[in-house]
Formats: sequence, C-alpha cells, structure tokens
Amino acid sequence: MKKASWKHSRVILAVLVTLAAPVVAGAGDNGREAILAAYAAEAKASDPSFSGFSANRGETLFRSVRSGGDERTPSCTSCHTGDPRAPGRNAKTGRRIDPVAVSANVRRFTEGEKVEKHFARDCKSVLGRPCTVLEKGDYITFLEGQ
Ligand code: HEC
Repeated sequence: MKKASWKHSRVILAVLVTLAAPVVAGAGDNGREAILAAYAAEAKASDPSFSGFSANRGETLFRSVRSGGDERTPSCTSCHTGDPRAPGRNAKTGRRIDPVAVSANVRRFTEGEKVEKHFARDCKSVLGRPCTVLEKGDYITFLEGQ
C-alpha cells in the first residue's frame, strides 16, 4: 500500500512540475520557440545552407525604409516606431499598438495564427510582398532580444 501511494504522489509531482514549467519559463516562451522552430525547419527545407536566424538581419528588416508597399507605411517602424519597447501607433488608423519587444510584452509572437496573419498583412503593407520565412524568423529573433 505504502509503495503504491509513493508512486502515486510521484506521478502527481511530475504533473505539477510539467504544469508549472511554462509559468516559470515565462508565459509565452514555449509558443514562440515552437513558431521559431517551425520557421527554421521550413527555412532549412528550402535552403540546405540555412544556418540560423539573425537578429541583425531582423533589425535591418525592422528599420529599413522601402518603396514597394503602401506609401503611408514605408517601414515597420511607421507603425511599431523606432523603439520596439515603446508603444506604437497605427499609421493607417491612428490606433495605439502595444510594444513589440518581448521584454515589454512576454506574449509577443506566441500565437501562430496571429503571427502569420500579421506577417501577411504588414509585410504586404511595407514591402508590397509577403515576408520570406527567413525574414519572419529574423524579425522574431531580433525582437526576442529587445
Ligand atoms: C499599418 C501599421 C503596421 C505596420 C507598417 C507594421 N505593422 Fe506589424 N502590427 C500592426 C498591428 C496593428 C499589429 C497587431 C496589434 C498588436 O499585436 O499589438 C501588428 C502585429 C504584428 C505582428 C504580430 C505580433 C504578435 O505578437 O504576434 C507581427 C509578426 C508584425 N506585426 C510584423 C510586422 C513587420 C515584419 C512589419 C514590417 C515589415 C510590420 N509589422 C509593420 C501594425 C503594423
């Protein structure tokens, strides 16, 4: 009997540790890492020489000024501002946008559907085309370090 209940409490302990882990790691870490891992797999599949995402390239994408998209939004910073830790302002609607830096908002880039929806819409708005998987991974990698 004693042996069995010990086993039982170890199972409960394991469940508790599993449930607590994401909380300890920070609310969104798991979701964001899963999204990055999926992008990395896709990047590797389309280019075998892919050797990882780059925060520097991500910052260049974030800050560079383009001419292919909507003239109200020549850059990601047109809405997200030059300081990723500060709130942004939608250049089309005037509405406030929460900061995009992960340090300022731990839920950033943790919901695959939201991430894909905004990459599709925002890259078209700025670049006039969808972002590549390399650009998407670089962008998140940059903001994860901000
Ligand atoms: C027209 C204004 C605008 C521009 C320009 C813009 N964004 Fe956004 N972006 C938004 C809004 C609005 C949201 C959604 C609100 C929020 O997440 O707080 C958002 C959210 C996102 C998200 C989802 C964030 C998350 O937490 O999942 C990604 C990814 C993103 N933008 C990427 C980009 C990239 C890359 C560029 C530049 C190529 C860019 N955005 C330029 C307005 C813009």
